[in-house]
Amino acid sequence: MAQAEVGLIGLGVMGANLALNIAENGFPIAVYNRTTEKTEAFYAEAGDLQDKIVPCESFEALVAAIRPPRPIIIMVKAGDPVDQQIAALKELLEANDIIIDAGNANFRDTQRRFDDLKDSGLTFIGMGVSGGEEGARHGPSIMVGGTPESYDRVSEMLDAISAKYKGQPCSAYLGTDGAGHFVKTIHNGIEYADMQMIAEVYGVLRDGVGMTAPEIGDVFARWDNGRLDSYLTEITAKVLKATDPETGQPVPDIILDRAGQKGTGRWSVIEAQQMGVPATVIEAAVAARSLSAAKAEREAAEDVYGAGRGALDLLDRDELIDDLELALFAGKISAYAQGFAVMAAASDEFGWNLPMDTIAKIWRAGCIIRSQFLDDIAASFEKDRDLSNLLMAPDFVAMMKSAHPSLRHIVSTAVKAGIAVPALSAALAYFDGYRQGRGTANLIQAQRDFFGAHSFERIDAEGAHHGPWGLD
Ligand code: 6PG
Repeated sequence: MAQAEVGLIGLGVMGANLALNIAENGFPIAVYNRTTEKTEAFYAEAGDLQDKIVPCESFEALVAAIRPPRPIIIMVKAGDPVDQQIAALKELLEANDIIIDAGNANFRDTQRRFDDLKDSGLTFIGMGVSGGEEGARHGPSIMVGGTPESYDRVSEMLDAISAKYKGQPCSAYLGTDGAGHFVKTIHNGIEYADMQMIAEVYGVLRDGVGMTAPEIGDVFARWDNGRLDSYLTEITAKVLKATDPETGQPVPDIILDRAGQKGTGRWSVIEAQQMGVPATVIEAAVAARSLSAAKAEREAAEDVYGAGRGALDLLDRDELIDDLELALFAGKISAYAQGFAVMAAASDEFGWNLPMDTIAKIWRAGCIIRSQFLDDIAASFEKDRDLSNLLMAPDFVAMMKSAHPSLRHIVSTAVKAGIAVPALSAALAYFDGYRQGRGTANLIQAQRDFFGAHSFERIDAEGAHHGPWGLD
């Protein structure tokens, strides 16, 4: 066989599926796994794709099998394992070879690795890959950060293996060093917000209306044909309608209400805070997961206080369901506005020049948050590349104007009934805060000046002022 075009290290679920996708698209690939049995099993199961796969038992064999400059994808657990692979590869690779980290790395690690490799002649690509197992196998969304030259070496392959939206590849070069991993992190932050708001709507229908999981599944299935059309809406409907073969119960009813998290949501919030950009919907979603994990403590608190949840004051169930659809839609607009605002701030801070329209475009297919809605976002950023906030895009102004009253109605109804809707509440509060020409920070400034002489600005004069606080 001719030399491989690319190498891949780490044949876990994501790595194995990505390797098969690459081979299937006609790019010969050399693969390596720490345990040789895994490499052998992978090769044995590759069927017709075997002639495009070179199974390797050592790093030396892997490196020898690839056409220089060699792109080598690392698909191992984020953190130290990535550094270990880089250290080992560094000894064997030559100038212009490209190490590609395709895991969910913290972009700050990616920046460090990019800088560390600068003097070695090797280059580093931090590549966000979204779409789970299915996406890796049949077309993920791919977010690339690195040098334009190293991207040139792999762009054709990445376009080929990525998901397509109306024929357009959902893969793009987004900027230098950590740009790709940063954008993937915010993708996940938005994913957290989307999932949490969906779970809150489920909570309103389950606890406030008393609907069963399959009944709620029907509602989501209907919504999937409208403005909420998205992968997450679609799978929510499927999940809610699934039956547990052992008990005959709806599957969601037999799942513990405790959700894990691997870090990308938290990183989104940390970075937003570092830059002073509100990301409150994402933050509420991350916090809700953390609270979900404290199961025993919540049970103890319920014993003390009671769950305090009651049925909704409901006149018309269909009307409520229509309102919920619009409320979820308004919540999404707030969450995405925050996510894009965080990316805009990071773009300035790190000099990435992130192309917002391209980001929205490559999220339209392949990734977990893929949706019709992202096509509207792409169109708005295409019309105005310097859009300050999605909430100010003319098309979104119209959407938000029609949807925010429902968000207010749902949040207030849920709050009255004692049903926690933290992410939807945060989305509403963000909107209400964002649209206030005069808020209440005048009082904060006065307080700061009172206790710390921090000064304040006046509405009727330039410069820094201090108050006559009558301290005596
Ligand atoms: C994706 C997913 C993927 C993974 C997350 C889940 O875009 O394909 O986001 O990256 O499912 O790691 O994150 P948590 O485990 O933190 O929920």
